[in-house]
Amino acid sequence: MMMGDSRISSFLLSILLFCLALIDNIGVEASHHVYIHLQNYTPRKINKLLRTTYHFQPKKHWMNDPNGPMYYKGLYHLFYQYNPKGSVWGNIVWGHSVSTDLINWQPLDPAIHPSKKFDKFGCWSGSATILPGDKPIMIYTGITDEENTQVQAFAEPDDYEDPYLEKWVRPSSGNPIIEPDEKDMNKTAFRDPSTAWLGPDGEWRLVVGGRMEEKGIAHLYKSKDFKKWTKAEDPLHSKEGTGMWECPDFYPVNLTGQNGMDTSSNGNGVIHVLKVSLDEKRYEYYTIGMYNTDKDKFTPDKTKSIDGPGGLRYDYGNFYASKTFYDPSRNRRVLWGWVNESDSSDDDVGKGWAGIMAFPRKVWLDGGGKQLIQWPVDEIKMLRGNNATMNETKIGKGMHVRSRGTTANQADVEVTFSFPSLDKAEKFDPSWNSMEAHELCELKGSSVEGGVGPFGLLTLTSPKFEEYTPVFYRIFKTVDNSYKTLMCTETGRSSLKNKAGYKPTYGGFVNIDLSTKEISLRTLIDHSVIESFAAGGKTCITARVYPSIALHKDSNLYVFNNGTEIVTIKSFTAWNMNRPYQMNN
Ligand code: FRU
Repeated sequence: MMMGDSRISSFLLSILLFCLALIDNIGVEASHHVYIHLQNYTPRKINKLLRTTYHFQPKKHWMNDPNGPMYYKGLYHLFYQYNPKGSVWGNIVWGHSVSTDLINWQPLDPAIHPSKKFDKFGCWSGSATILPGDKPIMIYTGITDEENTQVQAFAEPDDYEDPYLEKWVRPSSGNPIIEPDEKDMNKTAFRDPSTAWLGPDGEWRLVVGGRMEEKGIAHLYKSKDFKKWTKAEDPLHSKEGTGMWECPDFYPVNLTGQNGMDTSSNGNGVIHVLKVSLDEKRYEYYTIGMYNTDKDKFTPDKTKSIDGPGGLRYDYGNFYASKTFYDPSRNRRVLWGWVNESDSSDDDVGKGWAGIMAFPRKVWLDGGGKQLIQWPVDEIKMLRGNNATMNETKIGKGMHVRSRGTTANQADVEVTFSFPSLDKAEKFDPSWNSMEAHELCELKGSSVEGGVGPFGLLTLTSPKFEEYTPVFYRIFKTVDNSYKTLMCTETGRSSLKNKAGYKPTYGGFVNIDLSTKEISLRTLIDHSVIESFAAGGKTCITARVYPSIALHKDSNLYVFNNGTEIVTIKSFTAWNMNRPYQMNN
């Protein structure tokens, strides 16, 4: 009898594990799956083959969200959700690294571990605020029990004189500072406090992500002293049908120029951005709009973007739980985002690591005011080594031009394409209006002949083209004689080996004026990540790939065209990238 029971339960367990593996393999895993059997497992040897070099990643094990990024006393701080015992999600602490330049990182001991009554079951994501007198403070989510009750707690540096901020204290008196209100809140969907900002009335505000049934909510809290917080009557913003909002980020941007501003700045010449990470979709969207400080309401500007999953995204690829911070040393706003793996959890366990950060990006408002622009921070240039260039070259239909002398799996590539006319652009079928950009990229892949495009880069390409990852454009003409530019990254052919992995096609439209008949593309290639920026940072796509042949010297970079219109490579430079000093490798 006992035997039978245990066999049944182990059968059920294997079904459960199988289902979890399936969910994971198709790449749409919702948050916080606990792989009990895997979360404390470290392989004897860390597999370095596909580790990135100039993207941030811890030496080993699992990483997710960036937490509390800030600049303090000459150092950039990056904290992150980290499993110190294995390479799947679990045992989460706050990993911590510092840098003088956002490029070279020094790992420090984890800053926050679950240990207090208010965070015994987890120290989840949170944000830094620099209080007057140059005093940083963290507010993060603590998990208080096995039912996953979420509260917000604060942590302060033990020694403000220490620029490394190595020790953090979480006083038991006063913590937690915010608890869910049992009556009208969902206590398991109440997390990821934002950086706080100061209103004109001298009170601090912050938002916490939440959900009530299917409505995504940015709950607003106010405080005079940063210790006693009261829930505002209404949220800063909410949206029906969007599900749980994780990691809300709310900040001002200048209407003109590229300078960033402190999170508390407001007034003339300022507009606000609200970004939320959609737990159900596993991607993020942002809206640009007006923040009314009297009413404490943010109203997205409908003329600029859609308020919902169909809205603007920082990145149309693999990029989540992002957070910005204001960098006073260079007067800019910098964006960090987590790039998950696209292989299976078993692969991650085998590699001994999982999760990287996208390269830090400067963000500012586009001249037209309708979207943000993102661009790798300038410091990236210090890693550029030798470069390979191409003379002006015409590429006809079906041609591939190889960039010789490029370390093709560790490069920063900038290319500008031009075309003589748009006459051959394919007609944009109005029925495609209901499709998402990535679906159109699937329908019109890199090998499907077009008019103007598909043209772009073939990255991480093996010598016999068994493996390659195209990043490309395709231009359409609409019924009203305007043009639509589609940007795609296809990972379906990226690896012969990664059979169980998730190999999607990503896509986004690029809002660009094509009257110059030119378009640029920048792509950061770093072994298992391909991060691309269209038209100076208007549309971005980040993808994870795991080549098995396109490695080392067998990794090549090509420019290709599969459109009937000839495309000219106007300029092309591929820099071989050096490995940062003291990176976590
Ligand atoms: C986002 C997230 C957050 C949470 C953290 C836990 O990826 O689910 O909502 O605080 O990760 O690690």
